[in-house]
Amino acid sequence: MYQDFKITAGRPVYVQVKEYLKRLMVKGVLQPHQKLPSTRELSELMNVSRNTIISAYIGLEEDGLIYTQKGKGSYVAQMAISVTAPLLELNWKERMNSQALLAEEMDLMKHGIRAERGTISFTSIAPNEKLFDLGNVKRAFLDRMAVEGEVLLNYGYAKGYKPLIDLLKQYMEQKGVDLTGKDLLITNGFTEGLDLVLSALAKRNGAVICENPTHHTAIKNLRLHGYEVTGIDMERDGINLEQLEQVLSRQSFDCAYFIPSYHNPTGIVMSPQKRLELMRLMTRYQIPVIEDGFNEELRYSGSHVSPLIAAAGEGNGVIYLGSFSKVLFPGLRVGWVLADQELIYYLESLKRARSIHTSTLDQSILYQYLLNGNLDKYLRRARAEYKRKYEWTRRCCEAYMPYSLLTGDGGLHLFVSFAEGFDTRRLLELCKQRGVIFTPGDIFYTDGTGRETLRLGFSRVSDENIEAGIKIIGEAAKELLT
Ligand SMILES: Cc1ncc(COP(=O)(O)O)c(C=O)c1O
Repeated sequence: MYQDFKITAGRPVYVQVKEYLKRLMVKGVLQPHQKLPSTRELSELMNVSRNTIISAYIGLEEDGLIYTQKGKGSYVAQMAISVTAPLLELNWKERMNSQALLAEEMDLMKHGIRAERGTISFTSIAPNEKLFDLGNVKRAFLDRMAVEGEVLLNYGYAKGYKPLIDLLKQYMEQKGVDLTGKDLLITNGFTEGLDLVLSALAKRNGAVICENPTHHTAIKNLRLHGYEVTGIDMERDGINLEQLEQVLSRQSFDCAYFIPSYHNPTGIVMSPQKRLELMRLMTRYQIPVIEDGFNEELRYSGSHVSPLIAAAGEGNGVIYLGSFSKVLFPGLRVGWVLADQELIYYLESLKRARSIHTSTLDQSILYQYLLNGNLDKYLRRARAEYKRKYEWTRRCCEAYMPYSLLTGDGGLHLFVSFAEGFDTRRLLELCKQRGVIFTPGDIFYTDGTGRETLRLGFSRVSDENIEAGIKIIGEAAKELLT
């Protein structure tokens, strides 16, 4: 005992001594009312200074774990927790509800493709952290802390940090959105926004309509909320409107979910004409639209296309879910819902009930970062780098990949379709053996199809590995095709 104590660098030693002694008490090695060594003895046994032991003893006494008898020494106090309670041993799997079981079943981090060390991985569409301008983020943090650090560390408001709400409203207004009658709620990224909206909507038909393929996390959340998901085929300029209209004329839906810009996984941008037609259909069939605006800023060519919520004008039927996860930093879990003020009024209460509010610290860092004028500067740099990578990935696909269709107008990924009947799961097996992985496209489909497709995320892969990896996928694909 005591001599096995080892110091970990970077942590006050007296805290480590205190925790070491506490562990001995909790485990019962040191018994209630047992006398502890004197501070001098213990400092020799543990090979630390006597002051360190004194500080540790003071801390333990403050926590009620030891007591001192004047002139006699320190003793272990009677612990309140007894370890002799009967064992409460439960089978948690049996106690899981269908939602938890489905979430686990659809959890790609647990059941998806795993990369061995050294593998070239095209599975991620996260931003490249090497581009992050850490200096400006640190400055934003310090600036905001200097202004109102005490406020930021206390509870905030469920709707969000007011300065950020106001800034994001301006930001959305610049995208052409008519803010009349609308309001904005801050969420933990797009994903919580979607969850809140789905939690708020009354389920009348139990059905949601969306593009096919679509964002896997959205499919997962829709299913977790008990919705049947109907996917509509994609065309080169966005959703197939004829097919959509046919389905709408036959069946009723509680809402629609669309990703009009740099759609995940196809990377397609819906044309302005299609956006208008789509909104006409939604108005005709009175369907609330959930618009996912996650990637809008990652445009490398072509002109700016306004979001659906802008096309909707004063109308209140579009619920816009925003996020800076691809554009800036996904680690700051900040997204927003811009929608009719009455809907936001209810979402605010749901948000308060679920998580009280999004971290004010995260929100305030983002706010100050934007206020300091960093977004444009950063975007210029990030966009130039991603555009270069995007074009390089395209060129490599054109050179090495026997695809039948290659899509992606921007963003951090490209989508590859092979001839009908091709199986990218088999391709993945081959490529994995050769040190390359990608995301097989079927996970993005609402109906189990899409076996002939795959998604290539390029943002975090080096130029050399992009070429080497695509060459390997291309060669393996050619082998499977012959
Ligand atoms: C289609 C889509 N929407 C939104 C997001 C961002 O989600 P979040 O803001 O929760 O990070 C992603 C991230 O990959 C996405 O692919």
